[in-house]
Amino acid sequence: MSTYLIVGAKGQLGSDCMRQFDGLEIVGIDLPEVDISDRQQCFDLLESVRPEVIVNCAAYTAVDACETEKDACWRANADAPGYLAEWAGRNKSFLIHVSTDYVFPGNRPLFESLSESDEAGPVSEYGRSKLAGEQRIVDRTDRFAILRTAWLYGRSGKNFLKTMLRLTLQNPEKELKVVADQYGSPTWSETLARQIRVVAEKQAAGIFHATSEGYCNWYELACAFLEELSIKHNFVPCSTDEYPTPAKRPANSILENTRLKELGINVFKNWRDELKNFAVAHGEDVQKEVKKS
Ligand SMILES: NC(=O)c1ccc[n+]([C@@H]2O[C@H](COP(=O)([O-])OP(=O)(O)OC[C@H]3O[C@@H](n4cnc5c(N)ncnc54)[C@H](OP(=O)(O)O)[C@@H]3O)[C@@H](O)[C@H]2O)c1
Repeated sequence: MSTYLIVGAKGQLGSDCMRQFDGLEIVGIDLPEVDISDRQQCFDLLESVRPEVIVNCAAYTAVDACETEKDACWRANADAPGYLAEWAGRNKSFLIHVSTDYVFPGNRPLFESLSESDEAGPVSEYGRSKLAGEQRIVDRTDRFAILRTAWLYGRSGKNFLKTMLRLTLQNPEKELKVVADQYGSPTWSETLARQIRVVAEKQAAGIFHATSEGYCNWYELACAFLEELSIKHNFVPCSTDEYPTPAKRPANSILENTRLKELGINVFKNWRDELKNFAVAHGEDVQKEVKKS
């Protein structure tokens, strides 16, 4: 039986991968036990596990902090995948790496979607470091799958939906401005974990877009989630200019899963149906968690 190594196993996506790969021979690792951006630690880990398949869910994901914490951002997002690829290439291991819609500039006319053959051009340090991570993989091994996903939410860890829910529960009457001029494809980490398992089983290689079908803006996403939970909210749409952030974000990063569909292995449904399923499956637990925090 193949051994699977899940890196970033305690994170939002990593913990769903741990559940999704349950029953197989899996090893999960995360900080602080192993820092894969340290080449020696990374290689020691790989030599001791000798995985046939590596699933890298680890990243420095604080998009705004990346603008100032450049060293930490580049170590985790560019150097670390490079080390994994170096080992995978030499040892004939299959590397599955998760990347982002933020490798694109976002200047496509609304609502044109982006496929894998479209040219990248990140506008943030996070996006630049993630694109560099992709490039290092492509340069060091040919046994890889890079899955670019977007706007992840899930049961574990932090995400936009939990933040919107927490702010609403803390102060239900207060107006909350939410950006309504950035469009993307919200994606449930549990479904992405299922997609990763399919890609692993088929050893489907190359760069893939891997998001839910359809698109929305952040305001629409926040409203849809609270409505699924039957919680009254007071969200107000605003523009990116009204809500400036340290990192620039793409206005249109709607991805099309062209290659997954060509191979007949796309598992994603429309984002609205996925969100409903998430709310049914985990809405109560998420509310309990948010109330405690
Ligand atoms: N979240 C999104 O909306 C989104 C959108 C598009 C793409 N993605 C990509 O999807 C993937 C999964 O994201 P996520 O939301 O699951 O992220 P997450 O919840 O932040 O999980 C990342 C995990 O990786 C760990 N990690 C970071 N640096 C590490 C290192 N050097 N060595 C070992 N472990 C390390 C983190 O540990 P600490 O928590 O201790 O730092 C954390 O447990 C990432 O590649 C991300 O770039 C995410």
